[in-house]
Amino acid sequence: MWKKKIFLVIIAISTISLLLHHGGHLTTMDAFHLGCPALHSHPYSGLKPKHSNVVFLKTHKTASSTMQNLLFRFAERNNLTVALPIQACGHQFCYPRSFTTHSVHQHTLPPNIVTNHMRFNKAELKRLMPNDTIYVTILREPGSMFESLFSYYNQYCQSFKRVPNGSLEAFLDEPWRYYKPEENYSMYARNTLTYDLGGDKDRPAKDISYAKAFVAQVERVFSLVMISEYFDESLVLLRHLLSWDLDDILYVKLNMRTPSSKQGLTDDLRKKIRAWNSLDAQLYDHFNASLWRQISAVGPACVAREVRLLREAQEKLMKRCFGEGMPLVRSAAEIKNKELRPWQPSGKVDIVGYDLPVNITQSFSSQDQELCLRLIMPEVQYTKMLLRSQL
Ligand SMILES: *[C@@H]1O[C@H](CO)[C@@H](O)[C@H](O)[C@H]1NC(C)=O
Ligand SMILES: *[C@@H]1O[C@H](CO)[C@@H](O)[C@H](O)[C@H]1NC(C)=O
Ligand SMILES: *[C@@H]1O[C@H](CO)[C@@H](O)[C@H](O)[C@H]1NC(C)=O
Ligand SMILES: *[C@@H]1O[C@H](CO)[C@@H](O)[C@H](O)[C@H]1NC(C)=O
Ligand SMILES: *[C@@H]1O[C@H](CO)[C@@H](O)[C@H](O)[C@H]1NC(C)=O
Ligand SMILES: *[C@@H]1O[C@H](CO)[C@@H](O)[C@H](O)[C@H]1NC(C)=O
Repeated sequence: MWKKKIFLVIIAISTISLLLHHGGHLTTMDAFHLGCPALHSHPYSGLKPKHSNVVFLKTHKTASSTMQNLLFRFAERNNLTVALPIQACGHQFCYPRSFTTHSVHQHTLPPNIVTNHMRFNKAELKRLMPNDTIYVTILREPGSMFESLFSYYNQYCQSFKRVPNGSLEAFLDEPWRYYKPEENYSMYARNTLTYDLGGDKDRPAKDISYAKAFVAQVERVFSLVMISEYFDESLVLLRHLLSWDLDDILYVKLNMRTPSSKQGLTDDLRKKIRAWNSLDAQLYDHFNASLWRQISAVGPACVAREVRLLREAQEKLMKRCFGEGMPLVRSAAEIKNKELRPWQPSGKVDIVGYDLPVNITQSFSSQDQELCLRLIMPEVQYTKMLLRSQL
């Protein structure tokens, strides 16, 4: 008899605590928690504390600005400390030099989150971060990534600048004619992902054992390697890994080019890009395959469902922030609010950003306005703002 009573009391307590935890949330949230079978194997995973010690290695031209914005917002909402670079390092941790703790602003210690650009250095990060830190990064398909680097850094990186007519074809026909490994910014011209991850971008393609060992090393350190082409699926896996909510992974795409500054790729060009960036190509193939294995393990239907819920919630948020005609994509010159103008690498590429509609600015609560503003704030401005608020 007493056993039964205790059982009933336990049931009652669990129910109340479930209600308390879910009470204030939107209905999509409940649907979200009821989602995936893999979640049921940890019965209370929805109630597990959110993991908040995260290093996100922000690689170049991989949708990583969008991820950084998401992490900045998570940090602000949860009163977490974001490690930020000292002024002498700009908004990056003195990239392209290898990361050291000396590049971290002392008022941003000890950090929970690291997400600004750096060249990865595990030993130094280990000195900085709590021991339960989860490491995450993102890779992009080498063809479209290189095309993007070539266009974005066209005037910045000497290896690209000296190519006649800014022709990607000309570069790929004779890369060694233009590429100088020791020159400044040469890491944008070959195996950029490998370089950002701390590897040797100039290891010859025939050194297969190096490539294999490097892939294995990355796999040991990073719990999740996201893939830009499957960004939403990657976010769902991230949410599971960190026990975050749907609200924590909402985003607006940032730091994009206008369609007119993008170039389509032939199969031939793609092949040449992969050969020139063979270390990156091997990383990509390995981690794209492992992403899909992870999706398979969670359950493809479940991931697809969460992706759908994510997109629905996102659409709702966009409408709330930007009205029906959303999003207000603008070239930098047209953006009235200086805080929202993205950095422009050169006159030849147009990086678009967003502006807040005037009528919405008036009719919104200040809390909503803050959220909407942050969703579209470019990285340089957001980094400065975070530093001011953490000082
Ligand atoms: C963050 O800090 C503010 C002000 O100190 C506080 O009101 C809020 O509840 C905190 N939020 C969290 C999630 O701890
Ligand atoms: C992690 O750090 C905490 C507190 O600093 C310590 O108690 C714990 O033993 C450490 N765990 C590991 C696995 O080192
Ligand atoms: C550069 O473009 C000009 C004009 O389109 C063309 O005449 C010239 O042959 C091009 N040069 C190279 C090296 O492709
Ligand atoms: C390369 O970078 C170094 C260090 O930042 C700088 O002193 C040097 O002038 C740069 N060289 C060129 C050619 O821009
Ligand atoms: C990524 O892997 C999946 C599953 O193997 C495959 O279908 C897809 O084509 C790959 N994507 C790219 C861009 O290589
Ligand atoms: C704000 O103005 C735009 C165009 O001027 C309009 O499409 C949108 O519906 C308006 N939003 C609100 C909330 O009034």
